[in-house]
Amino acid sequence: MKLEIVILAAGKGARMHSSMPKALQRLGGRPLLAHVLEAAASLEQSGIHTVIGHGAELVRRTFQNPDFPFAGLAGLNWVLQQQQLGTGHAVQQAMPRVTADLVLVLYGDVPLVLPDTLRNLIDLADPGNIALLTLETSRPEGLGRIIRGADGEVEAIVEERDADPEQKRISEINSGIMVLPAGRLRQWLDRLDCDNAQREYYLTDVVAMARDENCPVRAMKIDDDREVQGVNDQAQLSALEGHYRMSKAASLLSAGVRLLDPARVDVRGSLVTGQDVEIDVNVVFEGDVSLGDGVKIGPNCVIKNASIAAGTRVLAGTSVDGAAVGADCSIGPMARLRPGTELAAGVKIGNFVETKKAKIGKGSKANHLCYLGDVEIGENVNIGAGVIVCNYDGEKKHRTVIGNNVFVGSNSVLVAPVTLRDDSFVAAGSTVSSEVPSGQLAVGRARQKNISRWKRPGNR
Ligand code: UD1
Ligand code: MG
Repeated sequence: MKLEIVILAAGKGARMHSSMPKALQRLGGRPLLAHVLEAAASLEQSGIHTVIGHGAELVRRTFQNPDFPFAGLAGLNWVLQQQQLGTGHAVQQAMPRVTADLVLVLYGDVPLVLPDTLRNLIDLADPGNIALLTLETSRPEGLGRIIRGADGEVEAIVEERDADPEQKRISEINSGIMVLPAGRLRQWLDRLDCDNAQREYYLTDVVAMARDENCPVRAMKIDDDREVQGVNDQAQLSALEGHYRMSKAASLLSAGVRLLDPARVDVRGSLVTGQDVEIDVNVVFEGDVSLGDGVKIGPNCVIKNASIAAGTRVLAGTSVDGAAVGADCSIGPMARLRPGTELAAGVKIGNFVETKKAKIGKGSKANHLCYLGDVEIGENVNIGAGVIVCNYDGEKKHRTVIGNNVFVGSNSVLVAPVTLRDDSFVAAGSTVSSEVPSGQLAVGRARQKNISRWKRPGNR
């Protein structure tokens, strides 16, 4: 049976007190809506219709960006809800596009629902009933309550603001997620009114209509409230962030990673790990990161879109972004590897060293206070403290090439474009603006002059 998915994401999220539409608020480094789209895309479906309204253009642009994995998702449609008149009204806007027999409604602000849970719910559904995902919770405040009859069957959903005191005591709530028969849903939506406390067309009202027509409502109750926790305010968002963090940490632990504190590591993307990986506290991973066997990451590091090969140590306070780091390197403390950095095995990058588009050969070292941008450095090169590569002339970037076994003395400035051939040597404090031939010493500084019989000011 064909199933299409309608995702409701037009709301402003007034309770977030943010200028950003709620669908774009970030959880685990990605927009809330991205989590829902990912779950939707993993199901067997023949179309995904996302209803947008507040910040619609921004939402659409974000997801159509070619860097975004959903940009090319087949069957992804955007539906505009001009005015946010309620969840029922929102679904109604998408219905003209739906041709399937069943409709799964997901909420853009309920981001962590698991595909397996959705599959189980879909298995419950058929064109003769509604399948509804509910939750037993000790904190039902703010949510729609499930009203069951004497026979235990679901009869209606009552929103918090329309509920009487007795109904408010009900601990079973509506997750918002349901599977409905498309044909009957169209008729029910046409009959909705906004005769309620919020003056909105509630999708939840179709449940009572279904019951009146003897269309059974099958509830699937789950009890992990994090899975269907909605994000309506910042407190709920940070609570879910905590849950997301812990679930990522749990999978690292079960893969054998040593985490000094699972509550202080954030994986905002995908992290692939080898054996005997150790991660200290306050480490953030973003995008796609892979860590080889025995890699150790020190405290307070941010590692983004990077591969770090076996045996490498990243020391405290280091930032790695868009870099490929070879085996047995030592990076940091407090180093910054920027995009286009490629380090061969056994490279040492020490404190306050910044690299960008830097290809550095085996066993080379830059241990202190350097800027290495747009460079190619050979093997066994020593870059002294305070060496700066001037790659930018105010208009263009230029390349610097350094051969094998080169020694660049401390506090030297290499003015690109420039080449230092194999085995050359640069004296400390030099400014090098032309090629240094192989095996030669370049001294590019003023000669020292000592002045005798000199007196300090004030000294007699
Ligand atoms: C809704 C449910 C409630 C449920 C709760 C679960 C209704 C009437 N209530 O309440 O029973 O317990 O979710 O989290 O459905 N939206 C639109 N267009 C609109 C209004 C809303 O697209 O006109 C979208 C929002 O962007 C959001 C979702 O629908 O993603 C839910 O809307 P929200 O206002 O958050 O409803 P809740 O009060 O959370
Ligand atoms: Mg909500």
